[in-house]
Amino acid sequence: MNYFKPFNSYIELEKMKLNPEGDIIIRKLSDMVNVFQDKEAVKEVLKENPIIYKVYNVQIPEESGHLQHCISIVYPGKIGNEYYMTKGHFHKIKETSEIYLTLKGKGKLVMQTPDQKVRVLDMEEGNISYIPPYWAHRTVNIGDEPLIFFGVYRGDAGHNYGIIEEKGMAVIIIEEGDKTVIKNNLAY
Ligand code: PA5
Ligand code: NI
Repeated sequence: MNYFKPFNSYIELEKMKLNPEGDIIIRKLSDMVNVFQDKEAVKEVLKENPIIYKVYNVQIPEESGHLQHCISIVYPGKIGNEYYMTKGHFHKIKETSEIYLTLKGKGKLVMQTPDQKVRVLDMEEGNISYIPPYWAHRTVNIGDEPLIFFGVYRGDAGHNYGIIEEKGMAVIIIEEGDKTVIKNNLAY
């Protein structure tokens, strides 16, 4: 038997880095222009094209017996009145679940079923959030420091961005006055 060898990874929270780094995904505004509602604001902020989030993926085979795990960092900021967030996805294998452990910052975890049931959970240091099978998920940074969380999911689950990329999600998370509010997405 050719056993896969156990190993550690280490999260350097202050430096916001995973060690070893693994596969890094960097998403800038230009990679997700359709995600945000305020098209004028998108146009304006695109001139600087900030990084919205980064993902450090530990290198794990895409096989069912394994567990993918990664560190995501969503930077603080807004496009218009809408907070920086991840693109959001269903898993390719829809019935696979996921766990997020929030390490730093303040966020909202927006989830939605294929028949548009919506749930939103708070993400704060120490929260362990369970994303059950079939729920699409997106994270939103509602604070003024980076939102950092650890995620773990079935090795072969994969990511399906298509539906959310086209239609968005049924709710949006925005700042109104100095409050964070959850609103129905009128463009949905
Ligand atoms: O698998 C997950 O849910 C996370 O690791 C996300 O992939 C990560 O947070 C980035 O979000 P997205 O894949 O929606 O761009
Ligand atoms: Ni996922």
